[in-house]
Amino acid sequence: MRSKSIIEELNFFQTETEKKLEEEKNLENLKKLYYEILGKQGKLTEILKKIKDLSIEEKKEVGTFANTLKETLTIKFKKKQEELENYIQLEKIQSEFYDITRPLNTKYGKIHPLSQIQYEVEDIFLNMGFQIMEGPEIELDEYNFGKLNFTEDHPARDMQDTFWTKEGFLLRTHTSSVQVRAMEKLKPPFKIIVPGRVFRYEETDASHENTFYQLEGMMIDKEVSIANLIYIMKTFLSTFFEKEVTVRLRPGYFPFVEPGFELDIQCLICKGKGCQVCKYSGWVEILPCGLIHPNVLEFGGINPNEWMGFAFGMGLSRLVMMRHSIEDIRHFLSGNLRFLEQF
Ligand code: DAH
Repeated sequence: MRSKSIIEELNFFQTETEKKLEEEKNLENLKKLYYEILGKQGKLTEILKKIKDLSIEEKKEVGTFANTLKETLTIKFKKKQEELENYIQLEKIQSEFYDITRPLNTKYGKIHPLSQIQYEVEDIFLNMGFQIMEGPEIELDEYNFGKLNFTEDHPARDMQDTFWTKEGFLLRTHTSSVQVRAMEKLKPPFKIIVPGRVFRYEETDASHENTFYQLEGMMIDKEVSIANLIYIMKTFLSTFFEKEVTVRLRPGYFPFVEPGFELDIQCLICKGKGCQVCKYSGWVEILPCGLIHPNVLEFGGINPNEWMGFAFGMGLSRLVMMRHSIEDIRHFLSGNLRFLEQF
């Protein structure tokens, strides 16, 4: 009865295999196990090699038993495989599940200090009835110089060192370049401000940068006086600095205004007594301005016998430096997060 002992062996083999199957947790290992057990050179084949010495009857008996066993085990392997695959799928879904109530570990970006102050200044002027205008940074000579009353050989052109493109365009050296563009576009009376980036071809140091920010202002109406100009400037400055400011006008030369002024404020730090910030003069130069030159009105298509206006240009970068006591203009465009994160 050798068939009996083979069948016993197969029974034992089945129990062992089922036990292993039960314990298996890994899909890869399951596949290996399958080949070890039911593969062509697997254990089952190994056991069945022994039937070659049996009688035909016995071979039949063992053969039928072995076939059923193989089917049973195959089914069990399949089931186990599905079970493991489902498990993997479930783990994947669980890992993908996004808990929307989880606290965010996000670093927020910030508005650049220059933009913060720009928006603040814009608001003050919007409240006084000004509208915001923009103009191109790459400009034509005529808007940056020509129509602002800088003649071809005007020495004032040397006041601003200019970046030129090969094609003969330039990077605007001041936001005054938008003055004539505004006159061409808008019907007087109007009041505009023009915040923007300007460029100068110059050595950089703590107070000079080749790229910086200005804010131009312009008002055109039937009757515009220096008193109007001073009033608007004073209102702006006291709102911005949140205290009463004392201003003074000195003559200043700019080809597009006549008369032209430098508007200074009494030093807010020492109240005019003299300190490091105002270089012991008691005054800080803050706003060049003036009444718009009749030629410029004419270049803008506005009749100077009918209309008049004032203009001013402030250094936005300077204003931000004053507000936050920033000692070096080069911080602004440095991209240094340690600087930027303070605001
Ligand atoms: N555009 C001049 C500059 O960048 C500043 C300026 C002076 C603007 C007088 C004005 C003005 O509008 O009236 O140096």
